Amino acid sequence: MTLRISVIGTGYLGATHAACMAELGYEVIGLDVDASKLKALASGILPFHEPGLPELLRKHVASGRLRFTDSYADAAANADIHFITVGTPQRADSQSADMSYVDGSVDSLLEHITGQALIVGKSTVPVGTARRLTERIAAKALPGSEVTLAWNPEFLREGFAVKDTLTPDRLVYGLSDTDPESFGLRKIREVYAPILEHGTPEIVTDLETAELVKVAANAFLATKISFINAFAEVTETVGGDIKTLADAIGHDSRIGRRFLNAGVGFGGGCLPKDIRALQARVSELGLSHTMGFLAEVDQINLRRRDRVVSLASGMLGNELAGKHICVLGVTFKPDSDDVRDSPALDIAVRLYNAGADVSVYDPQGNKNAAGRFPRLHYVDSWQEAAQDTDIVLLLTEWQEFRDLDPVELGSVVSSRVLIDGRNVLDRPTWREAGWTITGPGEYFEV
Ligand code: UGA
Repeated sequence: MTLRISVIGTGYLGATHAACMAELGYEVIGLDVDASKLKALASGILPFHEPGLPELLRKHVASGRLRFTDSYADAAANADIHFITVGTPQRADSQSADMSYVDGSVDSLLEHITGQALIVGKSTVPVGTARRLTERIAAKALPGSEVTLAWNPEFLREGFAVKDTLTPDRLVYGLSDTDPESFGLRKIREVYAPILEHGTPEIVTDLETAELVKVAANAFLATKISFINAFAEVTETVGGDIKTLADAIGHDSRIGRRFLNAGVGFGGGCLPKDIRALQARVSELGLSHTMGFLAEVDQINLRRRDRVVSLASGMLGNELAGKHICVLGVTFKPDSDDVRDSPALDIAVRLYNAGADVSVYDPQGNKNAAGRFPRLHYVDSWQEAAQDTDIVLLLTEWQEFRDLDPVELGSVVSSRVLIDGRNVLDRPTWREAGWTITGPGEYFEV
């Protein structure tokens, strides 16, 4: 019999997971409390940019395998595997994660589950959450029902969400009972059988380890980026080539070259929030010293933004007020329209606050950025953004910017001065075209 699955919370993770589960051949119900979002999703319209996902949604709404609802009664009656994919944002009053959506969705499901069911948590949560939810389930499940909880962290990247879900590097699931014959493990293996068949590594573990794998992976990635950015601070002072340094250490297979690109630092809805939530959680556990280095990782990351602002100021004669600045890229990374905790947007806003006239162009991010900070001058092309500007800042490495022609760009600006915040432009070519150009990790005298 076809597996019947519900996905609770149809944000980035949930919408992707629901469409991918339908792609694996299952009957899927996506649940959300936001009726307008559901209507849009049902017609393949996403409130965010993710390559390949709108097509997958439309395909499976049309095939009848995927439908959307706002009713927990509907989800409980028509599915027996329920993925929890709601958000765990940073709380407004602290660094810790807000668990109200996770708790609320589990409670709402429990009100309607009458038979045997598996709840699979995918949201990124503080360690100990699954254990706490297990107790909550024991206390609140309806008499006669039998509800098992598994934790199955998600490692997808924005921009590669469909690929990362259907062909992940590994599958991790934590359960209180890891007996192969147990209901929970049998069910989750059934769900992922088409992926496991391709030889995807499977890690079956306890609940705490599963929760920790996710935050440990993101903390490691954040640390790797700040590690190279700390060395960028050194080469900016003493000289040296940060890319060659990264290449050279990256050849050591124990280190690896990926995530060693010095730049304006990491942003987005995950890495910054997750390293802060992890510090908050270990402090609660009385272990604040263990993750103390993550505070430093965060600080190094934020200093990258200061560096670009002070470099821009220095290159403009120590005066930002009244200067015309072109910002290319405002999202936290390319192939995304996400501006959450975006270093690029933060830098643009700081320059504006210092009195500069800032023109912004991003292939996908203008709308979201304008929603957060409307006062920048958002335009529809790099030509418009660069028109008569005193300096160009490349802050997100969209392919369109990697392909920029120095002569063409040079013909619209007032002054051929550029900060390549992602080190993607070939220095000799740009210098030959008359540009003064620098970037992270470069010694530059102003
Ligand atoms: C990240 C993780 O990579 C995913 O595995 C994880 O599932 C996801 O968070 C999550 O927790 O949901 P994502 O936020 O989509 O994915 O973005 P990344 O591709 O990891 O990039 C994060 C930031 O690091 C970007 O701002 C990027 O520009 C920056 N970065 C990345 C660098 O500055 N240097 C690098 O070498 C690599």
